[in-house]
Amino acid sequence: MKVCVIGTGYVGLVTGVCLGEIGHNVICVDNDEKKIKMLKNSIMPIYEPGLENLVKKNTQSGNLSFTTQIGNAILSQDIIFICVGTPPLPDGSADLRFVEEVAKEIGRNLNSYKIIINKSTVPIGSGDWVSMIINDSVATGNGIDNGANHSGNKNAAAIFDVVSNPEFLREGTAIYDTFFPDRIVLGSASQKAIDLMIKLYEKVINRRFEQIDSLPDSKGTKNIPLVKTDLVSAEMIKYAANSFLATKISYINEIANICEKAGADILKVAKGIGLDSRIGARFLNAGIGWGGSCFPKDVSALTKIAAEYGITTQLLNSAINVNNQQRLKMVQKAQETLKIIKGKTIGVLGISFKPNTDDTRDAPAITIMNNLANLGAKVKAYDPIVKESPESLNQKVILCFDTEEIFSGSDLIILATEWEEFIGLDYEKLGALMRDKNFIDGRNFLSKEKMQSLGFKYSGIGI
Ligand code: UGA
Repeated sequence: MKVCVIGTGYVGLVTGVCLGEIGHNVICVDNDEKKIKMLKNSIMPIYEPGLENLVKKNTQSGNLSFTTQIGNAILSQDIIFICVGTPPLPDGSADLRFVEEVAKEIGRNLNSYKIIINKSTVPIGSGDWVSMIINDSVATGNGIDNGANHSGNKNAAAIFDVVSNPEFLREGTAIYDTFFPDRIVLGSASQKAIDLMIKLYEKVINRRFEQIDSLPDSKGTKNIPLVKTDLVSAEMIKYAANSFLATKISYINEIANICEKAGADILKVAKGIGLDSRIGARFLNAGIGWGGSCFPKDVSALTKIAAEYGITTQLLNSAINVNNQQRLKMVQKAQETLKIIKGKTIGVLGISFKPNTDDTRDAPAITIMNNLANLGAKVKAYDPIVKESPESLNQKVILCFDTEEIFSGSDLIILATEWEEFIGLDYEKLGALMRDKNFIDGRNFLSKEKMQSLGFKYSGIGI
């Protein structure tokens, strides 16, 4: 099938390359010329395991191409994914400027029946809003001169359908999540559009794609469940899923804080409750809380959507508050450990909001480092992948390029991101470089017993 993916961020790029991999003809569009040039040369703008190989393979096979020419790409393809960013506005609601621009562009270039898919996380009701913008763009006839559409398509109003097809991929495991999703959600008023979307994903749904390097074999695994629904419910599923997971993490963090005071062990408690199949073990890792570009944005946006209906989201507000407090708790822990922060040297392991990504958006590590730097500490940071200081990071924070630098002369080490690399460090040797062997494990990632046996004054979250 002929697919156009507009926006080559995490979602767009991964969606595009994976659809190419299962045999579709995919054009990925972005207005960032530099990015498109990089992608044409198989240079990845983001760090995502497995992505580069798949892009190379599918570009070479001709299934995947990149362009900045949005009009031509829409004209030539039948299935158009909107995957542009919906960043948060200062009040927490989603900024839909980019979605609006793309919808207008689609209206200008609607030369045949097309399915328009909202893959970006958009507020409830955006599907109908996108339809309206496309229809308006078609009706005003402000089409570009593309040879097919000289005066806009006044008759084209009925020749598209909008589908909401939210994604559930996680950064760092995005390719796996695309080929092995727990479910596929398709929301639309049009049965024709839903049927075509099922055809598009047929190989994923029925586990009929070729084995991909580093991914498990899909043969013999169960078909992927489909959730067919109306537009609004599909949009809500995305917000409700992310908000639930964020709330689950805030919940376990709150329990961890009680465990810490009462002398219980959150690792055992999480195991004990997670084995209850009604609760489930995943997303019960206590730590410094959730960050990234999705949870913070989506939970806030859902509270804003609710407020439009006069609903106060007490539970979600609490989840946000617990999360904000959790980061600050690390600063308090540092104060309890060091007493005076001013003049102390603190090394931080991990900057990205979670492992296997270079994404530092709303990373808890950054809030913690900024607070410590503001309190007068000398803060040093190391991350296996993030090698440039993020804009949001206090510029006094020193970026280090090896872990020895982090431990050298430090009074305290904080582990902020659970990168696999940090498991295998030679803590005996590194500890000997410290001025004082204090260690706060913000992800409960290392063995308390092992660290203590090496002479570290080790503390975690709720253990
Ligand atoms: C999240 C969702 O998991 C995806 O399903 C969704 O598609 C995506 O948002 C999105 O909306 O695009 P992602 O932000 O990549 O994915 O990361 P997660 O793995 O969900 O982690 C989010 C945050 O929660 C991270 O900061 C992580 O460290 C934290 N976390 C996660 C915990 O603190 N404890 C846990 O047990 C799990």
